[in-house]
Amino acid sequence: MYRIGIAFLLILAFSCQKTTDSICDSGKELRDVAPFPIGTTEDGVVFNWQKAQGSRYFNRISSENILKMENLAPRRDSFNFWPCSWLSREAKNAGYQYLHIHPVIWHRQLPYWLANYPKNQLKNFLTDYCRQFKKAILLAESIQTTGIDVVNEALNEDGTLRSSIWMQGIGKEYILEAYRIFSELDPQYKLFYNDYNLALNPAKLDAALDLCDWLRSQGVRVDGIGMQMHINLQEPSSSDIADAFAKITNRGYLLHVSELDISINPYGKANAATSDLLDKQADKFVEVIELYRHIPAHYQYGVTVWGISDRNSWIPGEFNRFDAPLLFDQNNDKKPAYCSFLNALNQ
Ligand code: G3I
Repeated sequence: MYRIGIAFLLILAFSCQKTTDSICDSGKELRDVAPFPIGTTEDGVVFNWQKAQGSRYFNRISSENILKMENLAPRRDSFNFWPCSWLSREAKNAGYQYLHIHPVIWHRQLPYWLANYPKNQLKNFLTDYCRQFKKAILLAESIQTTGIDVVNEALNEDGTLRSSIWMQGIGKEYILEAYRIFSELDPQYKLFYNDYNLALNPAKLDAALDLCDWLRSQGVRVDGIGMQMHINLQEPSSSDIADAFAKITNRGYLLHVSELDISINPYGKANAATSDLLDKQADKFVEVIELYRHIPAHYQYGVTVWGISDRNSWIPGEFNRFDAPLLFDQNNDKKPAYCSFLNALNQ
């Protein structure tokens, strides 16, 4: 009896193992099994080796840097929107299916000359910039653009509006004006408000939802919220993530997990990716996907991982520390999180 019990457990363990292995060894990748678009970003300044690689795994690409204002308005007297069509064409040639435009209006990566621009002319500038950007998106039709981060990170942690150059020069109306212009696009282009710490900080999420509700009450279109989700192994907790997902969808907004990466070294104490940290990271990736799979399908705009390999993550450079927050390692090999992520998408 005892032996039969052990055998049963062994068979069970073996078959579970086999199921797990089979999808990872099946030749299927994330884009083959995901029930919603699965995105990444490649540094858009110059497509590098990843160009051929990323689209094997992901079907949507978000523009990481190339469509930021410092690149599209490099000089005071002229715009430079060719990167829109260039990116659309290159992404298509590289094998992606969809493009997500990030970001139109932000307070970082602005052209240097904007700092001295007359404040009373900022509104005209913003209007003109948004109009030209909108036209450029329509002209860039090699690949399907599914959505646009119209305004990025307008909020402080306490939910008040950030005192950005836009806020100082125009006031809250800058947000309304940007969405007003993009609302003229066909509704197939989903319009997002994108921000960070929305699961970690419920006050900030409430403020984001109130902001979007206010925009809607003013007659403009906001279709969804982008939760960036630059998170770590401990925070936010599973229940905080679930609460945030539910709040967003219950208020009638599409949900984009728009910049997912999971730091294994948020406090700078580690100097290597141990197998323990990598296993915990795999579990956290699974947690996010499982929670995301539970929201109603019509709110699932998709999940975007903010980069392909740890080699190209923004985190080590920005915070001057070792980290390994993505699905591929420094050698561009799949990490444990990749297989777990794939299995979670395939459930
Ligand atoms: O433009 C210079 C280039 O001339 C130079 O050769 C190169 C050498 O390091 O640096 C280039 O600038 C860097 C730029 O990325 C392009 O690679 C900046 O130093 C670097 O700070 C910048 O980082 C970007 C960061 O935004 C800046 O705000 C990251 O790549 C990008 O992933 C990150 O993305 C943001 C999202 O847009 C919004 N949410 C947060 C997220 C992470 O900060």
